[in-house]
Amino acid sequence: MSSEEIYMTYRGYIVPKETHSLESLKFAQEFTFKDSDVVAVTFPKSGTVWMQEILPLVLNGGDLTPIHTIPNWDRVPWLEEKRLAVVVDQLSSPRALVTHFPYHLMPPSFHTSKAKVIYVMRNPKDVLVSSYYFHQMAGFLDDPGTFDEFMEKFLEGRVLFGKWTDHVKSWRHTELGDRIMYITYEEMVQDLPAALRRISDFLGSNLSEETVQKIAEHCSFNTMKANNMSNFSLVPKQYMDSNKSPFFRKGVSGDWKNHFSSEQLARFISVIRKEMEGESFSLPWSLD
Ligand code: A3P
Repeated sequence: MSSEEIYMTYRGYIVPKETHSLESLKFAQEFTFKDSDVVAVTFPKSGTVWMQEILPLVLNGGDLTPIHTIPNWDRVPWLEEKRLAVVVDQLSSPRALVTHFPYHLMPPSFHTSKAKVIYVMRNPKDVLVSSYYFHQMAGFLDDPGTFDEFMEKFLEGRVLFGKWTDHVKSWRHTELGDRIMYITYEEMVQDLPAALRRISDFLGSNLSEETVQKIAEHCSFNTMKANNMSNFSLVPKQYMDSNKSPFFRKGVSGDWKNHFSSEQLARFISVIRKEMEGESFSLPWSLD
């Protein structure tokens, strides 16, 4: 299939037609946020599905029912995707959502509500690698070509939801004040219980240490990889083929070291550095 058949363009961003439509994007723009809603925002491949496991458990005090009975895409739906309209009336409050939207695409009701945001950021080198494999296994995305070719596309923003740097910057320059918290994928990998405590404090969940430990166990890479409600095994192979590359691929930080040549690293760093020049915030990892 050609790129035109696979993707549509929405306000300058390419999105897959399999999961998005004009109706779903209109639905997102007209969506009414509630003050109690929580939305996890990610650039694709930064830990979205992980947050779909974490948020219901943090919000409901560790009750495993949702993660064992509801597929991740219906449990914590994407704001912009087709499934939201189907499941919106079944979401229990407080509702949790995810989105890949940059800040300026968020709907009007988001801005007037008090909905909280957790922005999850991941080292862009690992985002690139994870995305490269994901494009190989996802039948609803285009073929990534060689790693070198895919890196160019990524750096130029010719990938889902545009440039990584623009996404990160957009969510740093907001009027959200204490409605937004920032966390990194690397923090979550390094010490998940500590990350859960931060999330729980932010959401006012007041979890006991025992519950934090229980949630951490159920949100570990291996437990999630074995959870049929989260590992995409319910999706037909033509859309997601885990024989090509499993969705739960490695779940580590630093896999980029196994993929980047020294030339690719130099090019990647120089582009990202240039785009982050003059920014008031610094990235939490060294780029080299
Ligand atoms: P890798 O491809 O590097 O393994 P997203 O959900 O935004 O598409 O991100 C997918 C990435 O998050 C994949 O990275 C996946 O393995 C990783 N991931 C998902 N759940 C995880 C967990 N519990 N622990 C560590 N990594 C996780």
